[in-house]
Amino acid sequence: MSVLITGATGLIGQAITQKLREQNIAVHYLTTRKGKIKKEEGFKGFHWDPKKGEIDMHCFEGVTAVINLAGSSISQRWTKSNKKKILRSRLDSLQTLRKGIENLKVSSIKSFVSASAIGIYPNSLDRYYTEDVTDVDSSFLGEVVSKWEEEISLFNNLKFSVAAIRIGLVLSQEGGALPAMAKPIKYYVGAAFGSGEQWQSWIHIEDLARQFLFVIDQELQGVFNGVAPNPVTNTKLTKEIAVVLNRPLILPNVPRGVMQLVLGDMSYVLFASQRVSSKKIEEEGFEFYHKNICNALESIFHTAQEPSDAILKEFV
Ligand SMILES: NC(=O)c1ccc[n+]([C@@H]2O[C@H](COP(=O)([O-])OP(=O)(O)OC[C@H]3O[C@@H](n4cnc5c(N)ncnc54)[C@H](OP(=O)(O)O)[C@@H]3O)[C@@H](O)[C@H]2O)c1
Repeated sequence: MSVLITGATGLIGQAITQKLREQNIAVHYLTTRKGKIKKEEGFKGFHWDPKKGEIDMHCFEGVTAVINLAGSSISQRWTKSNKKKILRSRLDSLQTLRKGIENLKVSSIKSFVSASAIGIYPNSLDRYYTEDVTDVDSSFLGEVVSKWEEEISLFNNLKFSVAAIRIGLVLSQEGGALPAMAKPIKYYVGAAFGSGEQWQSWIHIEDLARQFLFVIDQELQGVFNGVAPNPVTNTKLTKEIAVVLNRPLILPNVPRGVMQLVLGDMSYVLFASQRVSSKKIEEEGFEFYHKNICNALESIFHTAQEPSDAILKEFV
């Protein structure tokens, strides 16, 4: 087995790369940054420029599975030009990858899986989302994810299994939302957002990396939620982070208007509520290591960091 990853230098890509390398599975990765290219035994970087549709075709040599994670971060101000970049980067990456694969004379690819996001599900305090729900959130995020999945579905015309993982709130100490939530709590100024009742369908980064590998290994087809079995409210998540960090929560909840002033329209992600089911992937035989939030946070904050530090060095 040999795996090609796009967006491998990012938070999730590094965790997946680490798992693959632990299992001695060769990794090829595509990066937009020439400075991040390494050529080592079993770990090779290749350059691409999805905006221009350019890709180093050597990246596909011997590859049996492709994992697509590339996309400009949604955690930036949602200005008109950034919104365009957030959407186009995802569509351009998939189009460049698909055209590259279509141009291969010989392909060894057996499975393809792309990142997607639970932001596609309509904001709701009451609904419980399984993958067969077809309603799309009316926000910018809903629009991005539904166009992203439309582009992913074009891979179905190729001769391998195609899957999308609708990723929830990824919990990791290395980046993403958790360090940003933990920092104010650490300094005694943390609080829940808005009513605090909004559902946060989280997943421990280790389980998410394992889920990606499970999907390619089993050559699964279709859409799968990438969330742990027990979503929590924002209040519960905030309280549990405070417990693990051994800090009190003193302040009242942060009003929506304040976050709108600080972050602009991007603050939407802090208040959106999606309670999402993990049942489908579990029915395929996937087992979560981190099923409840207390256990997940304990493992993130109170576990030695050597493995992740090691993988961060891969890309330095
Ligand atoms: N983290 C989460 O909580 C979460 C939740 C839901 C969905 N997701 C999705 O999962 C994917 C991976 O997430 P992540 O947290 O690992 O993201 P990340 O840390 O921001 O990494 C994304 C990677 O995408 C590549 N990239 C950035 N801008 C690009 C562009 N304009 N064109 C092509 N590639 C570009 C970068 O790789 P190079 O610089 O090497 O090219 C970057 O390392 C993303 O698509 C994200 O939207 C993440």
